[in-house]
Amino acid sequence: MIDVKEIRKHFKIYEKYPDLCYLDSAASALKLKEVVDSEVNYLNYNGTNVHRGVYKLSYDATNSYEETREVVAKFLNAKSDEIVFTRGCSDALNMFATSYGLNFLKKGDEIISSELEHHSSQMPWLNVSQKTGATIKYIPLENDQITIQNFKKVLTKNTKIVALTHVSNVLGYITPLKEIIKLAHEVGAIVIVDAAQSIPHMKVDVKELDCDALAFSAHKMMGPTGVGVLYAKKKLLNLMPPRDFGGDMAEDVYLDHMTYKDAPYKFETGTPMISEVIALKEAIKFLDNVGLDNIYNHEKYLRDLAIKGLKEIPNVIIYNEDCPTGIISFNIKGTHPHDAASVYDNNNICLRAGHHCAELVMHHLNVIGTLRASFYIYNDEEDVKKFIEATKEASEFFKMFMED
Ligand SMILES: Cc1ncc(COP(=O)(O)O)c(C=O)c1O
Repeated sequence: MIDVKEIRKHFKIYEKYPDLCYLDSAASALKLKEVVDSEVNYLNYNGTNVHRGVYKLSYDATNSYEETREVVAKFLNAKSDEIVFTRGCSDALNMFATSYGLNFLKKGDEIISSELEHHSSQMPWLNVSQKTGATIKYIPLENDQITIQNFKKVLTKNTKIVALTHVSNVLGYITPLKEIIKLAHEVGAIVIVDAAQSIPHMKVDVKELDCDALAFSAHKMMGPTGVGVLYAKKKLLNLMPPRDFGGDMAEDVYLDHMTYKDAPYKFETGTPMISEVIALKEAIKFLDNVGLDNIYNHEKYLRDLAIKGLKEIPNVIIYNEDCPTGIISFNIKGTHPHDAASVYDNNNICLRAGHHCAELVMHHLNVIGTLRASFYIYNDEEDVKKFIEATKEASEFFKMFMED
């Protein structure tokens, strides 16, 4: 069980806005006090570069930076040299597609994607497809979900890459990755997982999944902005050339040739996001302390409560009534989601309205956008109550307009 009152003590924003009703954690989570303190501590009392200095302060910064690599590796059940720090999930997904996709794919090869992908998971592969002549194929959705049966319909001996979301950022459905990965490996394909919406909310074990690569952002797990992780199996990282060049990733540089460091360092060009990486471990420690199973169950409880309330309100269309995670996508009939969102804003409720950087999902649902409420560790029943009351108000208000 999660004690939300206790949890909220770790978020200074609730001191300033005690009535905050924040339902947009799928976009970005609120920031933990421990994370902010850690960043401020480095900035105030250290501020030196990593991997370069030959003095104590720089050693300290390097140690703290590298400690996060260990913490992330343990969190994912990976090895620390399989963890690359990036600027975020999009950057990690792009890094993989650019480094592996552009160098190893060719005409005749196939990439499997889905209509549930966030732009950052699909567009890099669309680019690879356009540049290399490889074909991109989409898993036909069944009840808006990815199924093993339908995955088999697009898997062929030519499949080289499977690039899928773990949890849809619009519909919250969980992709049956374990079985998909097993099938992909049987034809020799590589699987990269967009774990932006799973890592903050459920236990993810890369060994158990056996995925080849996986990406996520720190800011969705109460960590700092501007930092993310690319995990990839070591043999894959060894094979992949650096995407960017310069700075600390170099080993030897001559007029006509160069060598660079081993992975993961060959992918970390220039001065990295030092305070952010250092602080990321605080978010992971917090998630571990609370327990990801507790977090998952807490969100599901709030979500079920909210769905129950929404179903009683006229003119509400829910797009993912049966999803197992803390994301609800819905609309008020005949109302632009941005118009509806103003009612929530007037009630001091933060939720998302629009296409959620997932236009393929919008095309699939045949809508211009949706309203999205997403729950996390600091939400409680009172938040659900406020959300339902505001939805009643929106439904009533826009019904009046429709009748005019
Ligand atoms: C499923 C999914 N993938 C990728 C991303 C991109 O993450 P970022 O903007 O942190 O790079 C997001 C962010 O919303 C997401 O929800």
